[in-house]
Amino acid sequence: MNDGDGTLDANTQGRQFGPLGTALVIIPTYNEAENIKTIVGRVRKAVPEAHVLIADDNSPDGTGKLADELAAEDDHVQVMHRKGKEGLGAAYLAGFRWGMEHDYGVLIEMDADGSHQPEELPRLLTALKSADLVLGSRWVPGGRVVNWPKSREFISRGGSLYSRIALDLPLRDITGGYRAFRRETLEGLGLDEVASQGYCFQVDLARRAVRAGYHVVEVPITFVERELGDSKMSKNILIEALWRVTAWGAGDRVAKLKGKRA
Ligand code: GDD
Ligand code: MN
Repeated sequence: MNDGDGTLDANTQGRQFGPLGTALVIIPTYNEAENIKTIVGRVRKAVPEAHVLIADDNSPDGTGKLADELAAEDDHVQVMHRKGKEGLGAAYLAGFRWGMEHDYGVLIEMDADGSHQPEELPRLLTALKSADLVLGSRWVPGGRVVNWPKSREFISRGGSLYSRIALDLPLRDITGGYRAFRRETLEGLGLDEVASQGYCFQVDLARRAVRAGYHVVEVPITFVERELGDSKMSKNILIEALWRVTAWGAGDRVAKLKGKRA
């Protein structure tokens, strides 16, 4: 399908992109009491037809209770209470499973802290009409970050560059967490085998999508650093990302060499 912008990627030729179905915005939370009401309100206003699933890891600050209050007053809002902090990856996997069981056609990842602006979601959804996966991207032309310390920008850009080279991926923002998946795309990624817990979950899924031959499109976004609460980025999350990406990259190279010899 040609979505009217004149571009027709080779991967999309002859593919039927029918109606997308209902969208579910999955918001993982750990100590986001200051942000949860605002972000849900913004999503509901920006894309009123979408549903929201808050996946809370039993936040000590009471985010789960605030989420329950939102769900009680709005039938488009659901809450998944998880037993404890198990990482962003595990929360998303549980959220995806729930969404697929409940027949959503589009599953969206969004941070709770306002960094991913709900007002940009319609652009991601429009792009998904002619793609299998849309990545909100800070590092393509038109994308940017606001109020991010240089140190954080360095880590993010470095992480994407390293992943791009080590894993040979034709993508610019590989660690970002503002994404829209078609349900069929998630079904084809082998989610049962995903072991990534922290932010490298994002690299894991991007890699799986490219390897499976899906049409992955990057749409520029403006990422706004949170004003309230704290980032959960930690040394352990960075270490997990570094060793996993390095191991995947090494595995790919060994497989390639073996393939050549065979
Ligand atoms: N349920 C759950 N469990 N949620 C979590 C956990 C967890 O263990 N850890 C983090 N979160 C939630 C946060 O509450 C927030 O809604 C979202 O995941 C992102 O966490 P932040 O701590 O705000 O991430 P960040 O701003 O440092 O990192 C951003 O950039 C990363 C690198 O590009 C995010 O966009 C990440 O998704 C991205 O990978
Ligand atoms: Mn954040």
